[in-house]
Amino acid sequence: MDQRFGDYQNEIYLNGLFGTPPELPMSFAGLEQRAEAALPPSLWSYVAGGAGDEHTQRANAEAFHRWGLVPRMMVGAARRDLSVDLFGMRLPSPLFMAPVGVIGLCAQDGHGDLATARAAARTGVPMIASTLTVDPMEQVAAEFGDTPGLFQLYTPTDRDLAESLVRRAEAAGFRGIVVTLDTWVTGWRPRDLATANFPQLRGHCLANYTSDPVFRARLAKAPEEDPQAAVLEWTGIFGNPLTWDDLPWLRSLTQLPIVLKGLCHPEDVRRARDGGVDGVYCSNHGGRQANGGLPALDALPDVVEAADGLPVLFDSGVRTGADVVKALALGATAVGVGRPYAYGLALDGADGIVHVLRSLLAETDLIMAVDGYPTLADLRAEGALRRL
Ligand code: FNR
Repeated sequence: MDQRFGDYQNEIYLNGLFGTPPELPMSFAGLEQRAEAALPPSLWSYVAGGAGDEHTQRANAEAFHRWGLVPRMMVGAARRDLSVDLFGMRLPSPLFMAPVGVIGLCAQDGHGDLATARAAARTGVPMIASTLTVDPMEQVAAEFGDTPGLFQLYTPTDRDLAESLVRRAEAAGFRGIVVTLDTWVTGWRPRDLATANFPQLRGHCLANYTSDPVFRARLAKAPEEDPQAAVLEWTGIFGNPLTWDDLPWLRSLTQLPIVLKGLCHPEDVRRARDGGVDGVYCSNHGGRQANGGLPALDALPDVVEAADGLPVLFDSGVRTGADVVKALALGATAVGVGRPYAYGLALDGADGIVHVLRSLLAETDLIMAVDGYPTLADLRAEGALRRL
C-alpha cells in the first residue's frame, strides 16, 4: 500500500504559506491542555485520570523514553511501507483506536462513537468500539466505510447477554471481538471518587444494553420508561470475574477472531494461546485500573516472546509517532492510542481525531524515513532499538 503518511506535514506547511496555520495542536501537551479547557470538568477527570496517584499512568508514557532507535544512513528509504496484515485484514498502517467507553460523551454533539467511526472511515485506522457507547454498535459500525472495525466486549455475568452482544457484533460486520479482562471491577480512581462521578451510573453509554433483547427481557419495564431500573440492572450484570475455565466458552461464542485485552504476564499469554485465541493485547488500560503496576511497554517484549507468532496488540502511554515506532520495534503487531484521540474529538469532532491520527502516522513515517527503516520488518530487526 503506497500511503505517504509523512506528506501531512507538507499540507500543513503549505496551508501556512497561504496564511492558514493549523488550528489544532501539534503536540500531545497542547492537545491535553486544550482538551481540558474544552471538556466539562467531571468528564475531563474521567478521561484524563487514572488509578491511585496515577504513577503507573505516567510511567506508561515515560517508559518510551528509555528506548532509542539507532539511525541507519544511505538506506534510501524514500518510500516506507507501514501496512500490516491483522486477522486477514490488510491495513494501511499498524495504528488503531483503542476502545474508549464514554468516547460518545467527548463530542460536542454527544455522539462521539459515531464521530470516531467516521474518523476510522476517513483514515483507514480501525476503531475498536467499546461495549459502553452512546449509540448502539449497529449504528457505529454503519459509519466505518471501508475500514474494518472490532468490537470490545465487557463480558456480562449473564452468558445469554454476552452471546447476544457477540451475535449482534457479528451481524453488524465487526471483524473481531476484543475481550477486556482487567475491568470486571472498577479500579480505585481518586479523581472520579472526589466528585463521586461514574458516568454509567448516571445512565450514560449504556445503549448496547438498553437496545439488547436479552437485557430488555430482564427488566420489568422498558428502559425508556424506567431508566433507573435499567441502570440498577446493569450494575448487577456488568462485571464478570472471568477465569481460564471460561475461555472455552468464550472461544465457542464466535468464529470471529478473539483477542484478550489486558495480558501482561507471559504465562497468561501462553494460556491464552493454548486456549485458541487469535491474538493477545498487551495493555494496563492506560493506568486507569491498577496503580503500582509495571509500565505496559516493559511487559511487551516478554508478551511478544510468549505469543510466539500470534499477533500482539499494544496500548498504554503512546503519545507520539516515536512511541509508535518503539512499540513496533519491540514486536507489537499493531499499536493503539486511547486518550490522544479522545482529546482530538473533544476539540474538533471527527476532524480532530483525523488530525491526531494523521499526525501520529506522519511522525511515525518520517522517523522511519530519517532513520532509514523503510519497513516494519526493518524496525524489528536485531539492533534497531537500544535500551538507554
Ligand atoms: C478506556 N479504556 C477502555 N478499555 C476497554 O477495553 N474498554 C473501555 O470501555 C475502555 N474505556 C476507557 C475509557 C477512557 C476514558 C479511557 C482513557 C480508556 C482503555 C483503553 O482501551 C486503552 O487501554 C488506554 O486508553 C490506553 O492508554 P492511553 O493511550 O490512554 O494512555
